[in-house]
Amino acid sequence: MTELAEIISDLQRRFAADADAADGEHSLENLRIEYLGRNGEVTKIRRTIGTLPAEQRPEAGKAINDAVAAMEARLDAVHAVLQSHALEEELATSIDVTFPAEMPQVGSIHPVRRIIEQTCDYFMRHGFAVVVGPEAEPDYYNFDALNIPSDHPAREGFDSFWLSDTVLLRPHTSPLQIRTMQQHKPPIAIVAPGKCFRRDAVDARHLFQFHQVEGLLVAEGIHFGHLKGMLTGLCRELFGAEQSVRFRPSYFPFTEPSAEVDTTCPKCKGTGAAAAAPCNMCGGSGWIELGGAGMVHPNVLREVGYDPEVYSGWAFGSGVERLGLPRYQVDDIRRFINSDPDFLEQLS
Ligand code: FA5
Repeated sequence: MTELAEIISDLQRRFAADADAADGEHSLENLRIEYLGRNGEVTKIRRTIGTLPAEQRPEAGKAINDAVAAMEARLDAVHAVLQSHALEEELATSIDVTFPAEMPQVGSIHPVRRIIEQTCDYFMRHGFAVVVGPEAEPDYYNFDALNIPSDHPAREGFDSFWLSDTVLLRPHTSPLQIRTMQQHKPPIAIVAPGKCFRRDAVDARHLFQFHQVEGLLVAEGIHFGHLKGMLTGLCRELFGAEQSVRFRPSYFPFTEPSAEVDTTCPKCKGTGAAAAAPCNMCGGSGWIELGGAGMVHPNVLREVGYDPEVYSGWAFGSGVERLGLPRYQVDDIRRFINSDPDFLEQLS
């Protein structure tokens, strides 16, 4: 009997070590068959009961049954641990479709780009073509061909970034007037958006790199009324009917007569005052300038080989960021270049 007890206790030790080392349900099942199966180790020990004296057999049988019960309990315990590990692994790798999704960050068109698109769209609907040109231009296209010879004081108004003695970053989009008219016979109807560069001090209305959109219409019988109608229509489309627009007499060497196009200041709403001080957006005038415009000067038409006795035309050049101020009721032009996500999201 003592010998049997030792055999059982040795079996239980080995079984315990094997059960703890099992790394999955499959190895646990193999273990069960090896120890507790029909031909397993416990069965072999049971068979030895017959060799014992009759009075020892019940006790031997009970000892084996107790050992089997303990082994089965251990199998169940190890099985439960393995199952919980497997579940944890599965949860770690599987996708929980009920988990709240992280929304993707959706970008949007920059407000300046949107104004360019809306402006071009307006003119294209009226039969205009969109043209683009170089950002670095010879002074011929920037000035000379636009009736601004080298000694003309108007050059000082375009405080420019010169790249060489004769080439500069364009301070306005007006060179596109010359390039287009030199390449095409009238009638001409174009709109030309693009970047411009000036050595201007940055403030609520000025940037040193900004955008303009140029417009040019040349044909027979074109007059100032056509210009006024088209620009008023553009302002209505961009700002709505309530926003006032005015044409103020002005001077450009390449147009005659010339005008500035102004709109009600979006900051002080035309009152000219912000809190107690004069409005820093419009300088207290209640108006902000959107662009320059006028009838194409006869000298410019002659320069490109058009007969000013036959053809006439209007042109305008407007700051795109300036159009953005009343369009979005923005109080400072620098907001368009600060890349502040809150600002851009509001306008998206
Ligand atoms: C011109 O640039 C002329 N080429 C416009 C023109 C075209 C007149 C065709 C007649 C015929 P001006 O310098 O005024 O004009 O500039 C036009 C507009 O560009 C301004 O009204 C303003 O809206 C914008 N602008 C000019 N400088 C700046 C700047 N530093 N920052 C932001 N916008 C500017």
